[in-house]
Amino acid sequence: MSESILGSLTPSAIVRALDQFVIGQNEAKKIVAVAVYAHYKKLAVAAEGLEIAKSNVLLIGPTGSGKTLLCETLARILRVPFVTADATTLAQTEYVNEEIDAILQRLLEMAAGDTGRAASGIVFIDEVDKLKSRGGEAWRTSGESVQHALLKIMEGAPVRLRTGQYMDTRNVLFICGGAFVGLEDILATTHSYGYISTGGDDNQNILNRLNARVKPTDLSHFGLIPEFAGRLPIVARLQDLDRASLVRIMVEPRNAIARQFRSILHNEGVELVIEAPVLQQIADLAIEYKAGARSLRGIFEEMMTPILYVIPDRPEIRKVVISSLFDEPRFFAAKAN
Ligand SMILES: Nc1ncnc2c1ncn2[C@@H]1O[C@H](COP(=O)(O)OP(=O)(O)OP(=O)(O)O)[C@@H](O)[C@H]1O
Ligand SMILES: [Mg+2]
Repeated sequence: MSESILGSLTPSAIVRALDQFVIGQNEAKKIVAVAVYAHYKKLAVAAEGLEIAKSNVLLIGPTGSGKTLLCETLARILRVPFVTADATTLAQTEYVNEEIDAILQRLLEMAAGDTGRAASGIVFIDEVDKLKSRGGEAWRTSGESVQHALLKIMEGAPVRLRTGQYMDTRNVLFICGGAFVGLEDILATTHSYGYISTGGDDNQNILNRLNARVKPTDLSHFGLIPEFAGRLPIVARLQDLDRASLVRIMVEPRNAIARQFRSILHNEGVELVIEAPVLQQIADLAIEYKAGARSLRGIFEEMMTPILYVIPDRPEIRKVVISSLFDEPRFFAAKAN
């Protein structure tokens, strides 16, 4: 079962598959690829009788940097059932355990009711940074109580679902995500290698890497309970996307937004030409909106709206050229013969 999940996939093959959908974030891709590879290998080894503790993964990165996309794509590559849940939603309900059961229930649905398949699925829990303990809150609704509730399934406790079925969570891979605003400052004050002075650049690079490493103690400093932080030994960080990456996101992935609109218009017999500066203007606006790649679609759709409005009524149009986000698009009819 678990052997067949990986098939012939190696960590580098997983990264290459991710590359087709997720732009940049190379460090995070590598860490995650190795983590899932090791996870599904462990299941295979465990089937032979050797239990190895599970390592869940924490993705730290700003909003719109690709955390959810990375997990979704990963599950698609591995063809394992996948669900996402939002930690803030969990923190707002009085019935945390019921909500958590519902997450596992959805995982089972994604596995078409096959408990064996569901048991090797992936659960992505976003915004776990919002679960940090603040003190002064009622226990029932505090983020801390949610961490405790999540801990149980992350540790692998069997869960009895509403349907009466038992769900084995031992092999479910939990990936948690969050922006962890303020963690940088904690890292700056707690890194323990900084006092070593070095002469060479190489050593400095290694030190920089060690210093950038997020330790469970940093996470508890941030406000996660130590048991929860300890259940997330693998930490991958996603970076803010720069202008060049944002431009690539609009054109490169297989389902990139520029490709989508080009094929919509192609379907109407119209060629769509978006000149390079336009993509840079959109990327610049997205950077201003500070929501990572998330704003790209909205800006792009807005640009396309007037075009999609007129095209269906004007069958003579064969080509549309957009030269600037701030100029009218130019329409060209078929050449008279
Ligand atoms: N690295 C990336 N490569 C390609 N597309 C991306 C990338 N990052 C973000 N996107 C695009 O932006 C959208 C939002 O990204 P995603 O949902 O993965 O962000 P997130 O990091 O999970 O943010 P949040 O913290 O707000 O949940 C995606 O649907 C995708 O279209
Ligand atoms: Mg997300």
